[in-house]
Amino acid sequence: MKIIDNLKDGYEILKENNISTYKIDCEILMSKTLNMSREEILLNLEKKIKEEEKKKYFILINRRKKNEPIAYITNNKDFWRGSFITNKNVLIPRPDSEHLVEQTLKLIQKNQAKRILDIGVGSGCLSISILKERPYCKCDAIDACKNALKLAKINANLHQLIDRIKFFKRDVDNFCNDKYDLIISNPPYIKKHKIKYLGTINYEPKIALDGGLDGLEVIKKVISKSKYLLKFNGKLILEIGYDQKYKVVNFLKERNFFINKIIKDYGNNSRCIVSTKIN
Ligand SMILES: C[S@@+](CC[C@H](N)C(=O)[O-])C[C@H]1O[C@@H](n2cnc3c(N)ncnc32)[C@H](O)[C@@H]1O
Repeated sequence: MKIIDNLKDGYEILKENNISTYKIDCEILMSKTLNMSREEILLNLEKKIKEEEKKKYFILINRRKKNEPIAYITNNKDFWRGSFITNKNVLIPRPDSEHLVEQTLKLIQKNQAKRILDIGVGSGCLSISILKERPYCKCDAIDACKNALKLAKINANLHQLIDRIKFFKRDVDNFCNDKYDLIISNPPYIKKHKIKYLGTINYEPKIALDGGLDGLEVIKKVISKSKYLLKFNGKLILEIGYDQKYKVVNFLKERNFFINKIIKDYGNNSRCIVSTKIN
């Protein structure tokens, strides 16, 4: 059977299962199956594929049909200016988190050597993206999940940054170290009882999503800890949930952080707060 016929069968299966991105998803899964780029697939629609390739493709289609995210099936996600290996131990890097990278880069000049801490490093997408553009900076990265750290190290290796990032398996509560110029964090911030309604997000590790009863448990820990880990005038760049701005801003102010900036996402929700430790 030709590529085009298998693609069409895939479209039907995913469409029936309400996968709105069925077309692009089938093309991506075919390109994974045949180890060809999506462009090559589209240029070779009349090419015949082998029986075992067809089997492999439909195994992937069946995973996608059950709503498993494409990034877990292909083990890959593009973020900022790079490509990252992903698996079920880490949150899939989100375009909204690119605001954290953008804001952090604005705070560091190209030739500056700043010390950065990434709390909840996950796949490593934030620190790796920042270090690639700021060659004199170094980063410490912590995560409570051993398997997330494993993957972050693999990504750091792939991006040739393993000598500039130090990894620690630590809960933010138990991390004590020297002082940092900047702390970045995209902590889990979903309310516990809402996680089960999140659809495809449900494939992702609970530890990366679960912000406790009010969604603010880990965010508050990150802020409280940052007060001790940041140098005077150090910056905290934090991602928050779409409805958490007022509570997080108040919590920051109570702990003597000055609010520099609140950045909205592409859906006009406040999602990133840049603040300064002032005493
Ligand atoms: C929302 S994910 C963010 C991952 C990555 N930084 C990103 O932006 O894609 C949150 C990460 O924090 C880690 N984490 C959750 N609770 C933590 C805690 N108390 N201390 C340290 N890390 C924690 C999770 O394992 C997860 O990798």
